[in-house]
Parts: sequence; C-alpha cells; structure tokens
Amino acid sequence: MDRPQALVRPLEAQWQGVLDDVLRPMRGGPPLTTKDVARLGPKVAELSRAYNQAEAEGRRTKLPLEARIAFSFPRDVPKGAAAARELVASGAVKVPADRPLRVLDLGAGLGAMTWGLVRALAASGAVGQVDAVLVDEDAEALEAARAIGRAARAVLGTAPIDLRLATEVRSLGAVSSGASAVEARAPYDVVILGQVLSEIDPRADPATRLERQAALVTDVLDRTVAPDGALVIVEPALRERTRHLHALRDRVLAGGAATVFAPCLHAATCPMLAVETEWCHEDLPVDLPPWTVPLARAAGLRWQGLTFSYLVLRKDGRTQAAGAAGDHAVRFRAVSDLLRSKGKIELFICREDGLRQRIRRLDRDAGGGRGVPFEDLRRGDVVTLSSAAETAPLGGALATPAVEASAGGDTRADDAPAPPIDERGRVSAKANVAIDVAAARK
Ligand SMILES: C[S@@+](CC[C@H](N)C(=O)[O-])C[C@H]1O[C@@H](n2cnc3c(N)ncnc32)[C@H](O)[C@@H]1O
Repeated sequence: MDRPQALVRPLEAQWQGVLDDVLRPMRGGPPLTTKDVARLGPKVAELSRAYNQAEAEGRRTKLPLEARIAFSFPRDVPKGAAAARELVASGAVKVPADRPLRVLDLGAGLGAMTWGLVRALAASGAVGQVDAVLVDEDAEALEAARAIGRAARAVLGTAPIDLRLATEVRSLGAVSSGASAVEARAPYDVVILGQVLSEIDPRADPATRLERQAALVTDVLDRTVAPDGALVIVEPALRERTRHLHALRDRVLAGGAATVFAPCLHAATCPMLAVETEWCHEDLPVDLPPWTVPLARAAGLRWQGLTFSYLVLRKDGRTQAAGAAGDHAVRFRAVSDLLRSKGKIELFICREDGLRQRIRRLDRDAGGGRGVPFEDLRRGDVVTLSSAAETAPLGGALATPAVEASAGGDTRADDAPAPPIDERGRVSAKANVAIDVAAARK
C-alpha cells in the first residue's frame, strides 16, 4: 500500500452528473447545472464572502444552497476521506462483515464528510453497508443531502459500499437529549463533526467557547461513540480555528474522555500552542476535480491542494504511536512543507515523544541511508528515521511500513551508529527513512 493519502481522491467525472441531477429541479429560473458558471460563479463567490464575513462579525448566515451543492460538496468530500485516512489504512475502522458500519454525522449539511469516509473505505477495498444518520438544523441542506444520496445511486449504480442515509433536523446542543433516531441507533462506530465547531458560539469569548465546546465534545463522546469507536473532527486550516482545535484537544484529553489517534502520535500537550505563530494543519496534494475548476476560477478561489485541520479521538486507547523507539529511531509527523535553502532541507516535525522540532538534512548528506529519499517527505507524513543499526520492523512495533527501509545494516558491534537526528536537529547522513502506514495499537 502507498501512503494513507492514496485513499483521498477527488470526485470522479460521473459525480458531475450526480450533482447536476440534484441542481436541475431546484427552484427559480431555468434548470441549473454545474456547467452554468455564469449563474453559479457569483453564488460561489457569495458563499465564500458570506462565510468569511459572518465569521468576522460573529454571526451565522444562510448560505446559497446551489453553491454548496455545486462547489462546497466536491471540495469537502476529500477532506472527510483525508481525516479518516489513517483510521481506514490502519484497520482501526472497518466495515463489519455481519452488520452495517454505523456513522453519525453532526452538522452534516450535505453529508460531504460521510461520503468522504465511505470513499476512503471503498478506496481501501472495503465492501458492505454503511448506515449514516445526518443531523443538521438546516432542513433544506438535509433535503439536498438525501437528493445527493438518491442521485448517486441512480447515476453511479451499485457501489462496493452501500450508503444508507437517515436524516434528522436538530440542533447540536440537543443531540444528547430526548428520544430520536440519533439515540435509537447509538452507539456509533464513527461520529463526525465536520466544519461545524467553527459555527458554534462564534460570539463567545475564546475561554468560554473552549469550555463549552469541550463539554459538547465530551458529551458526544460519552453518549454517541461506541467503546471501540472514533470521533473525527474537521475544521478549516486557518490559524485561529486550528489553534482552537489544538486547545480543545488538550482540554478533552485532560478530562480523560478519549485518547488521540490523529494527527498526534502522542498525548502530551500540543507543542504548537507554545508558539503563537504555529498551527498543525494539512495541505495534501489533492486538487479539486477539473469540472469544478471553472467555478473556482470564476469565484476567485483556489483549486490546488486540500487544506484543513483535523482531530481523531478514540475511546479504546488505540493510537498510531509505535513506542519504544529508543536511541536508534525517531518517529514523527511532518508538520510543515519541506523548506529548501542553499545546502540543506529543513522540516518541522512533531515527535512521538511530544516534542516539536526543526530538523535539517544537509544536501551533502543525501543518499547515505535507505528507504524513501528525505526530499520526498511531505506535510502530513508519519515518518520513522532510524540509524543504520536499526533492523526491521522499524521502531519495533510498527505495522508494515508503506515504504520500507531495508532490514539490517552493515555496522559492526564496535561501530555504534549515530542517532538519526543529533541534538542540534541535524539528520544523520546514514539515517534510513520510512513512511509508515498507521500502526494502530492499544
Ligand atoms: C460549514 S457546514 C459543514 C457541513 C459538513 N459537515 C461538511 O463538512 O461539509 C456547517 C453545517 O453545520 C450546521 N450547523 C451549524 N451549527 C449547528 C448547530 N448548532 N446544530 C446543528 N447544525 C448546525 C449548518 O447548518 C451547516 O449545514
């Protein structure tokens, strides 16, 4: 298997037909399709403007549904896949053979996050049924979500994963109270909060907001997530929103309601919060599908790259940490792009031991180790650097590395290998580099 990122794919061309089937019968004027850039472009621009402005003013606003269907949905589905990629790649979330996988999507809108999860599962080769409950306070959005489900079935035909949707109009604050489809179907294998925390309590002061959202997330964990289930939170990649998510992570972990599965490989407090200008976000090389590019262009928006931040919590203690790497291996997530300058490449990493570090590989040290070339690493990769003496499996407890550094080394007993990263952050010329498939262990 390739990187877990291989499970993250733009919506295929047939999806344009799906969304057109949903748009065509919508109210007002002649039938609309995704190709109608002249009519949709301004609505997509309005969507983006309204969202940013409402955010700045601390209020929520009703966004144009046509633009959400034609543009936000194809933009956001891969974010759902990306946030779940390690759960799926590691086998920590599977479609059970004897029953449907149960999903609860809170603040679901059109259901993009659920579709993302389903597509990541399908891309991993899974087959079976997913039963999803989509909850939102916007009845119109949920109606469109159901229409997307019907059109997908009609246009795409039989899929390896049969997604069955139920919807419920409800406010998030009321999710854990009263009898409803949500409680009736609990507990869930996967619960999703996709880009909705940003919309809750935008006017509250940061401390109060943190307090309330930590209580909400804890309540969702307690009441809806199965004992071996996961909660997936997705937020925009903006600095302030992402740092809020980091603080929320620290708060929820401190309360003991869950452990962290991704992106963090450790449970220590988030080291990003110590540096005001830092935030741990994703920017995957997954572009918008080509058929949405004219819309993005017309609205002055970017179509390259997939940016978001995410947090995956679990209740069963499973993590991606390999543990016990010792002196001979350092395992980390790459939390920046590669920074190239004369004679070196630098990278910010968040290590399994909870340290954030800036490391550098000198150009003259290139090619000395085995495995993946250091210059191929990307933001978001989970990486093990090991010294020459380290033998496979790297780090001792890892699952199959996606790209494996070959076992063994030619070091002799009297030839102690250098640590893969020295105390000043320099990567050893002989360091082996492996990009890991998430290990997921208890
Ligand atoms: C930005 S959209 C995200 C939709 C979807 N989760 C996604 O990521 O593509 C936010 C959604 O959350 C819903 N929402 C916001 N606050 C909510 C609340 N308190 N209760 C229920 N839904 C809410 C909105 O109606 C909207 O559909």
